[in-house]
Amino acid sequence: MDLQIYGFSFTLILFFSINNATLQEKPSTTSPQINSNSVLVALLDSHYTELSELVEKALLLQTLEEAVTKHNITIFAPKNEALERDLDPEFKRFLLEPGNLKSLQSLLLFHMIPNRFQSNNWPKNEQKTRRRSTLCPGEEQLNVFQKSGEKMVSISKIIHPDDIIKPDGIIHGIESVLIPKSVQQDFNTRRSLRSISAVIPQGAPEVDPRTNRLKKNPKTQVPAGAPPVLPIYSAMAPGPSLAPAPAPGPGGPHHHFDGETQVKDFIQTLLHYGGYNELADILVNLTSLATEMGRLVSEGYVLTVLAPNDEAMAKLTTDQLSEPGAPEQIMYYHIIPEYQTEESMYNSVRRFGKVKYDTLRLPHKVVAEEADGSVKFGFDEGSAYLFDPDIYTDGRISVQGIDGVLFPVEEIKVAPKAAPVVAKPRRGKLMEVACSVLGC
Ligand SMILES: *[C@@H]1O[C@H](CO)[C@@H](O)[C@H](O)[C@H]1NC(C)=O
Ligand SMILES: *[C@@H]1O[C@H](CO)[C@@H](O)[C@H](O)[C@H]1NC(C)=O
Repeated sequence: MDLQIYGFSFTLILFFSINNATLQEKPSTTSPQINSNSVLVALLDSHYTELSELVEKALLLQTLEEAVTKHNITIFAPKNEALERDLDPEFKRFLLEPGNLKSLQSLLLFHMIPNRFQSNNWPKNEQKTRRRSTLCPGEEQLNVFQKSGEKMVSISKIIHPDDIIKPDGIIHGIESVLIPKSVQQDFNTRRSLRSISAVIPQGAPEVDPRTNRLKKNPKTQVPAGAPPVLPIYSAMAPGPSLAPAPAPGPGGPHHHFDGETQVKDFIQTLLHYGGYNELADILVNLTSLATEMGRLVSEGYVLTVLAPNDEAMAKLTTDQLSEPGAPEQIMYYHIIPEYQTEESMYNSVRRFGKVKYDTLRLPHKVVAEEADGSVKFGFDEGSAYLFDPDIYTDGRISVQGIDGVLFPVEEIKVAPKAAPVVAKPRRGKLMEVACSVLGC
């Protein structure tokens, strides 16, 4: 009797354990079994400790375990410094707030794509870009391309291609953090909300038809952040902007946006991004230009900067810079008084063929069209391709990297072909030229 019961329970135990084992092998159970040779195990074990910690904090392990049972994944792992030292502390605080778990998850999943992308899959041709959807649903795709012999994923250099290779995925070490638009927007909204809420709503500005100047009407209220009534040109400082920076007085406390900080942010971003030092130099040194941009943004205007990269700036000739005010004129022609992103510009040239954008250099416009799957600005010699999309986008200022310096079509025809500057300009060279001309 005893023996029989014993035997029965034994069979029962055996039955259950076998059943359990078969269950566990099925990938569809709620907690999938992770193979020790998995790329996820490798990640948690790797020198990417900051990323691993964030993945755990974001409660993403289970999602990722499920992902690797279905398909390979490729992880673009920012080096530790990128997530520590290099990350804006305010942004990091934002990510780690419990209420912003969704943003943290989006940011991390934005670094992963649901298939295997090895270093030999990078396009060899520098003109080609592959686009890859990420594990973050609804976000823009990542651009995978080569630039000056470096492998790139969107804004970041790949510093350790194929760093970790596993049967279910691969990890590439990257230099900087990739920030999806939605997260950037959430962060910016939070930040602007904070500054907006500190401002008492002002009366809607109204134009006095006789003077064409703003007149205050305290009865009409507009929501903070509504676009200004006057066209941007009315708000710009008069003259070729060699005028001294406007006194900080009148604008002061009723600004809806902290344009000055936003301009500083985007110049910082340009410097960190690399390859745009000449332009950043100009903006830092031509303080009246930076101040003017900051003031316009503070007043609610939006701007898109077409930023020529260093190679393009190096091709500028001394002649092109020798006219008084030339650097400003060149810069003003690269600023569009609209908020445009790579996506919005690409969509409109795809849809409409040629598109003309106003610039701050009245009355000159800049023409854009689609070319080679990208956006091309200007004509012939004065043309440039959209080269580094969305270097900085904060909802007010957008910075798009281009590979040439643009000139209004009238000037291309008139300007004699000047001899190029002989010495290869180094960082700051342009400013020396500009400064000797402008006498600063
Ligand atoms: C992952 O990639 C490897 C190598 O290409 C392939 O053999 C394997 O079947 C893939 N795994 C899944 C789950 O697709
Ligand atoms: C501004 O111009 C000065 C003088 O040419 C130069 O030494 C300096 O490096 C420039 N500033 C920046 C931030 O580039």
